[in-house]
Amino acid sequence: MHRLTNRHILIGITGGIAAYKAAELTRLFKGVGAEVRVVLTDAGAEFITPLTLQALSGNPVHQSLLDPEAEQGMGHIELARWADLIIVAPATADFMARLSSGMANDLLTTLCLATDAPIALAPAMNQAMWRDPRTQQNLEALLSQGVNIFGPGSGEQACGDTGPGRMLEPTQIMQACANLIAAGPLEGKRVVITAGPTREALDPVRFISNHSSGKMGYALAEAAAKAGAAVTLISGPVALATPKGVQRVGVESAQEMLDASLIAASAADIFIGAAAVADYRPVMVADQKIKKGAEEVMEILLTKNPDIIATIATLEPRPFMVGFAAETENVIAYARSKLERKGLDLVIANDVSQSDIGFNSDDNEVVVVGAGGEIAMPRASKAALAENLIALIAEQIN
Ligand code: CTP
Repeated sequence: MHRLTNRHILIGITGGIAAYKAAELTRLFKGVGAEVRVVLTDAGAEFITPLTLQALSGNPVHQSLLDPEAEQGMGHIELARWADLIIVAPATADFMARLSSGMANDLLTTLCLATDAPIALAPAMNQAMWRDPRTQQNLEALLSQGVNIFGPGSGEQACGDTGPGRMLEPTQIMQACANLIAAGPLEGKRVVITAGPTREALDPVRFISNHSSGKMGYALAEAAAKAGAAVTLISGPVALATPKGVQRVGVESAQEMLDASLIAASAADIFIGAAAVADYRPVMVADQKIKKGAEEVMEILLTKNPDIIATIATLEPRPFMVGFAAETENVIAYARSKLERKGLDLVIANDVSQSDIGFNSDDNEVVVVGAGGEIAMPRASKAALAENLIALIAEQIN
């Protein structure tokens, strides 16, 4: 996965002829799965239209600091907090002057003051303006303030001059931005996660299944992807969107989930079994729909399904193995016995006797059981909990 996938990139565009290249930059960021919002200064809007940037970024373009309607959508402070990185490309001499002196007289400079995110500028201007001692002084000031400066390049300029002041190419700017974003703790790792229920067919129209929503597994997939991992999500039927940057393999039965898991796990560093796999399946699957008969009682004979996580745990070499245990009593003791019986490294245990957490709810509260002891993770949203669990798993494997 690309380091910029799922990252919030705020592109500032000021008034220079290189503004047309910001359209390509927007497209490049979107292409690697980044979330992009564009802020256009008044001068920038003389060179490129908001409509172009809205179409490319998929979001409305922000232009004014004092527009009540825009503030209602995403206010400037919210926007400043949203950004993981602000890249101003092109950055004019005027913008450098205003930013270096701490002015906040338009939306873009205000955002730069209000954000905690790293700021980078890709200057673009006439070579004489770049060489001017005042611009050079502003450059020194910006560098000492911790602002990153990408370029400028040197060469032929739009005005006919030759010299320093050309904006770097969009691909170079994007690479420089990626270098600024810290590597996630799972960068370079492959993670396989099973999620959701399985369906065990009785006939072409009926199946045995369970109420698993898949929320915990999907939250883990999203968190692992955010941590930089390449994630394969092997999922039973659920009503959830695939998290961005995650490769999803759809399956129905436990057997299909096992087959897909065996293929994916052979190259995996981490395997997380979050699926609620049906323990049993019907011995016979009827070819045709089973018709109702005269009998009042019907028996269905079931046979045991393969244990997916226990099977993966026997592979050589095997990934770091994380399982779940949903228990109603003796939570830790049962989780520890699962850890040993299935040959796992960690078991994430939750008490499903409490109806407001676990299974179908948005919150969860777990105890992580490992060889070294237990770690309790207090009640939180599944998204927040997933981030903590992924951080813990990353710590254990690194
Ligand atoms: N699991 C699996 N394949 C199965 C059953 C379970 O991979 N056929 C995985 C689940 O994804 C979970 C863990 O094993 O990570 C624990 O599942 P659970 O159903 O609680 O364990 P069981 O061994 O079935 O124990 P019991 O039903 O007795 O609690």
